[in-house]
Amino acid sequence: MALAAEKNQQTAGGSKMDTGGTLLTNPNVKPAMAARPGEEPKMTSRQVCVFYGQKQALFNVDLDIPSRQVTALIGPSGCGKSTYLRCLNRMNDVIDNCRVTGDIRLDAENIYDPRLDVVMLRARIGMVFQKPNPFPKSIYDNIAYGPRIHGMGATKEELDEIVQTSLERAGLWNEAKDRLAQPGTGLSGGQQQRLCIARAIAVSPEVILMDEPCSALDPIATARIEELIDELRENYTIIIVTHSMQQAARVSQKTAFFHLGVLVEWGDTEQIFTAPRDERTQGYITGRFG
Ligand SMILES: Nc1ncnc2c1ncn2[C@@H]1O[C@H](COP(=O)(O)OP(=O)(O)OP(=O)(O)O)[C@@H](O)[C@H]1O
Ligand SMILES: [Mg+2]
Repeated sequence: MALAAEKNQQTAGGSKMDTGGTLLTNPNVKPAMAARPGEEPKMTSRQVCVFYGQKQALFNVDLDIPSRQVTALIGPSGCGKSTYLRCLNRMNDVIDNCRVTGDIRLDAENIYDPRLDVVMLRARIGMVFQKPNPFPKSIYDNIAYGPRIHGMGATKEELDEIVQTSLERAGLWNEAKDRLAQPGTGLSGGQQQRLCIARAIAVSPEVILMDEPCSALDPIATARIEELIDELRENYTIIIVTHSMQQAARVSQKTAFFHLGVLVEWGDTEQIFTAPRDERTQGYITGRFG
């Protein structure tokens, strides 16, 4: 199966992988479409395949991520949404047996280039997970951790400023300002998720990946995070995996529908939800399967 997929990969025209694991790009492949006329996509994927051992989880995914918009990834459980999200900041690198082929770019730069510093990449492309996962540290240190690693905030004042701004942007400052020295794990679930968003923002990323960020939250905390996502898109490019079609419709401008490891279709959220082109998309959004 892997062999057949590789063969397919090499003839598909997007890109191919050399034996050393680097990506060789075909210069003839142009981005499919820009987000707005004249604007290049923030990220592009071409012919992306992912294998866990012999099992192929994603098949030739071509997707453009527009800058400063929210792109929602939807589809039934096991269709490859998290797998695809992890490709975008090379989180799959840390999974044994996981192999990624194809071409993924951030601002036209190949993120699988072996010369690329993966730690820097993950600072540019932050991630928020399904379950809030604050470090076992104070609220302050949860936010300050990344900036310290990346040499940001040389003085105490600068670091204080980063912590405050990040918490403000994540809508948590008022609730946290009097308890900065207390453990992050002592916050409520919704507050912890905003803390994790603040932590992601603190290193000034350009892209934020969110894998079902509201699935552990109640409706009020969910609404708060959705408002936050809407505010954040002014400054960040956001990609969110969600099982809630209502949430995708509320927060995203673009939607991509995955099914059995294939990106079936993507486009403006309104189009996907009101006039899908593919009957599999139609079936999913109307609740016939999934
Ligand atoms: N670490 C792994 N090792 C082996 N197989 C994996 C691994 N992670 C995911 N898979 C498989 O890859 C496929 C895609 O999984 P993935 O987690 O990306 O789906 P998903 O769309 O995020 O599903 P869900 O909505 O349930 O989170 C599934 O068949 C899954 O079993
Ligand atoms: Mg998932």
